[in-house]
This record gives sequence, C-alpha cells and structure tokens, in this order.
Amino acid sequence: MRIDGTHYRTIWVDPADGWSVRIIDQTRLPWQLEILRLVESEQAFTAIRTMQVRGAPLIGAAAAYGLALALREDPSTEAIERAASHLASARPTAYNLAWALGRMLHRLRNTAPGERAAAAYAEAAAIADEDVAQNEAIGRHGLPLIAAIAARSTRPVNVLTHCNAGWLATVDWGTALAPIYRAHDQAIALHVWVDETRPRNQGAALTAWELGRHGVPHTVIADNAGGHLMQHDQVDLAIVGADRVTRTGDVANKIGTYLKALAARESAVPFWVAVPSSTIDWSISDGLADIPIEEREAAEVATIAGRTPEGSLVRVSVVPEGSCAANPAFDVTPARLVTGLITERGTCLATAEGLAALFPEQVL
Ligand code: MRU
Repeated sequence: MRIDGTHYRTIWVDPADGWSVRIIDQTRLPWQLEILRLVESEQAFTAIRTMQVRGAPLIGAAAAYGLALALREDPSTEAIERAASHLASARPTAYNLAWALGRMLHRLRNTAPGERAAAAYAEAAAIADEDVAQNEAIGRHGLPLIAAIAARSTRPVNVLTHCNAGWLATVDWGTALAPIYRAHDQAIALHVWVDETRPRNQGAALTAWELGRHGVPHTVIADNAGGHLMQHDQVDLAIVGADRVTRTGDVANKIGTYLKALAARESAVPFWVAVPSSTIDWSISDGLADIPIEEREAAEVATIAGRTPEGSLVRVSVVPEGSCAANPAFDVTPARLVTGLITERGTCLATAEGLAALFPEQVL
C-alpha cells in the first residue's frame, strides 16, 4: 500500500544490511509513522506482545522473521526450538503465529545448522510473499460481493467492518479491506462504517487511517452503533477478518465481532469473513471450546490513548480508581451466523463441507 506516494509493506528486511527487520510501529499510528529496526528475536517477541505489529497474518510473518533473528544468535536445534516456543507464547489466539512457526521449524529441522540462517530468511520471505498473494486474491474474490450490491443500488455501497483487517494487519492488502480497496479502485461507489473497536481502537486509529490514505470514504462509529445502523438499512454488508477459524467455520475475531454478527442476522445483513488459509486451524471443530481467547491487561480498558490539541500523545484514565476492568480480546462467532468465507481460493459457506471443497488437501 502507498503512504504519501511511497509503497510500504508492514514488515521487510532492511536492504542496507540484508538481515535486520523493519516494522511500522502500529502503537504510534495514526499520529506518527515510525519505522522500527529489530535486531534480535526478543524484540520481535516484544513487538508482537505489545502490538507494535498485530493482526493475525502480520503476527505470523513477524514471528517467522523473529525466528530468523534468533538463528543469527544460535543456530543449534535446541536454541531454535526454544526461540520458537517463546515466540509462540506472545499472543495465543491468532492461529497464524503457530502456523508460521510450525512451517519455519519444519524447514529448519531439515536444514544443516550452517545453512539454517539463510533458509530461515528465505522461508520468512516466502511466508510474507504468500500472504500478499493470498490477500490480493481475497480482494479479487470479495469484489463481486460488493459489485453485486452496487449494481442494484442507487447509493454508495455501505460496508461495515470491525477492528483492523486491512493492510496493516497483514503484510499487504489486508483481508476484510482487500475487497473494499479493489472495489474503490474500480470506481465502485462505497462507504465504510468503521467500528472504533475499543479497548485499543484499532478501527478508529488504524482502519480509519488506512482508508483515509487510500481515499476510501468512511465514518468511524462507536462500537455500539452498528446494530442501530443495520436496523435502519444503513449497512449493505459486513466484512470482518479472523484470528482463527475452525475447520467447521466458527470464527474467532476481535471482541465485539459476535455482537455484530448477531445484529446482522436479525436485520438480514450479509456477514462475510475474509480469511486466508493460514488462519484456518484444521485441527479443531468447536470454536467456543477449542479456541484460546487472549485476556489482555485491564489497563487497556481502564485507559484510552489519544493526542491533545497541542500534539502530545497521552493516555488518560476513563474508569474510577478502584473499579475492576476485564479485557477478553477476542470472541467466537458461530459458523451459523456467518454468511460465508472469502478465501484466497474463492468464497464458500462457513461449513466443514464448504471449506473442504476449497481445500480438499486439508481433509484427506
Ligand atoms: O488484537 P489485534 O489487533 O491483533 O486483532 C486483530 C483482529 O482481530 C483482526 O480482525 C484479525 O487479526 C484479522 S487481520 C487480517
């Protein structure tokens, strides 16, 4: 994606040295575009844990590069396994983290120690490049859903999205936002309702920033406004991303997704989930029972970050002293509430059969 005319991915190897890893610090957006340089694996762990990088596909790519950095320190099998399990513990819900590390370990276990560093960078680059290609394909497959509504409507297509499943959450393109960018680039008139997505405000801070940079008309709304807008025919479809999808089509995504899906069902608004196959956990079938839900610090709920009119970045308290706060970071939307999945291989029903038809090699 372009920022002020320059093409960026969210993660890349610094061409100046060929090994250090560059990321966009998402905790500074939308106020500052700050590029960080990671030189050791622990920094990759911290970047994932503190959400300097976030979004399931980007978490996977960052962990892959984090393992490549670990190998520079110690290429022994024991050190690699240790570094991988440490990186895997950074965030529990996004399946791409385990998927990317599993893929890296498979490659490295089958590579002689002296060749492991080069193999790790090559595999991490492949994971990043494939993510870009998959999300580009999701954009192509999701486009007809928007185009079909545009064809029978006299107003811009109103799409609601939750959290940030744009290019910042992936290596490029995004998942839920990929069809939106494509539709916009094809001059389909659309408008995006952006859930602010408390407590961390990924919608207000990141999705709104991305869409704005790309020139896509959008409006930030309080998380609780979506149901009202759906009741009043102000939402034509919802598209969200996912952190983990079961083989039966249950979807874990940012907390609040489930409530939007319930409201969408009540108002007959199509509710689509854009998901690359790297987010599908084929080993589980019951989202509520089997998907680990990250519980984050209560301080994320009890405080809010922003910029003062003078330009300082501050964090202020929004909860009385002494009150408890709880912060489950994801919820599970049962497959029955999902209209369909948009994958890199096309769209399908959120069912075991629908997914198996698109990915037969996973269910043999
Ligand atoms: O906690 P976050 O910001 O990492 O959560 C991100 C989401 O919930 C996204 O919707 C999901 O990772 C899909 S990203 C393409």
